[in-house]
Amino acid sequence: MTKLIDTYGRGHRDLRVSLTDRCSLRCSYCMPHDFAAWLPNENLLTTDELITVIEVAVAEGINEIRLTGGEPLLRPDIVEIVARINAIKNAPKLSMTTNGLALAKLAKPLVDAGLERINISLDTLDRERFKTLTFRDRIHDVFAGIDAAREAGLKPLKINSVLLKGINDDESVALVEWALKEGLNLRFIEQMPLDAGGIWSRSDLITADQIFADLSTRYELTPVDDRGSSPAEEFYVNGGPEVIGIIGSVTRPFCGSCDRVRLTSDGQIRNCLFSMAETDLRATLRNADLSDEAKRESISKAFHSTVLAKLPGHGINEPNFIQPVRPMSAIGG
Ligand code: 5AD
Ligand code: SF4
Repeated sequence: MTKLIDTYGRGHRDLRVSLTDRCSLRCSYCMPHDFAAWLPNENLLTTDELITVIEVAVAEGINEIRLTGGEPLLRPDIVEIVARINAIKNAPKLSMTTNGLALAKLAKPLVDAGLERINISLDTLDRERFKTLTFRDRIHDVFAGIDAAREAGLKPLKINSVLLKGINDDESVALVEWALKEGLNLRFIEQMPLDAGGIWSRSDLITADQIFADLSTRYELTPVDDRGSSPAEEFYVNGGPEVIGIIGSVTRPFCGSCDRVRLTSDGQIRNCLFSMAETDLRATLRNADLSDEAKRESISKAFHSTVLAKLPGHGINEPNFIQPVRPMSAIGG
């Protein structure tokens, strides 16, 4: 049972841990391609510090950890991090969201270290478009990464796609076709206003309704019941058993059942992607005057106060919505 319950009765069980703000790609909806404002290395939590925070979170009822970034596989000690999380008492379920570039090399060691599930981001099947979207010519590395993840036994293998107007919004059917053929579980995510460049515009948004309509011209989609706290609305394709997901983060918000807390790579906890406030755990972790026990107590209190301050929703659809200063790459997807 989680002890992290907010004022709206939502229990928090899922901690998203960003391991670095750096990335090997430059997706425009996440960070500008000339992004230079990396966090200084010394601000990133060390692996020991991370494990302390995760141990406290698990003791408070977190039972699921998702490792994100930036690109989590850029963390040189990623395999050790996975192994150490897995060795925690009452080890949480462990998953990762990655761009997949380094999976050809790392999928097997990660599975051996205890990684259970993985989401790979891929927005297009076309090499030129991939270059336009990510400013890097590396689509082949993603395909190799997907193959390696499959061979390493990661199942279900989920693919996240964001559709952008005028760039890849004509690709939804092709992506589904590919996913069905490859045995992948594809989910489309509505683009959220989280880019450092401020390029998001509501009028350009490819909405969940639009994606559903486009796919319905080709497939019969029937809703899968029992969504739980999952943000994805899932649909059987032509009667199943294959499913696809549509995550309407903006137009069909799922904040009412949100069970997530986030830890940024520089040791701040946030109760929402869109929250304006963060609580600094790094200063506590590095406070030489505090005993290990006192640090843990303070971190545990911080989790509780962060959860208690959580608003009912992200407010993207409110007229007074303000985009957070940090881009997705710095908060963690
Ligand atoms: N809106 C929606 N999804 C995003 N991602 C990154 N930035 C955004 C955004 N602004 C997705 C990536 C990846 C995951 C980390 O989050 O495509 O799948
Ligand atoms: Fe990197 Fe993912 Fe952001 Fe793209 S969306 S720049 S892959 S962190």
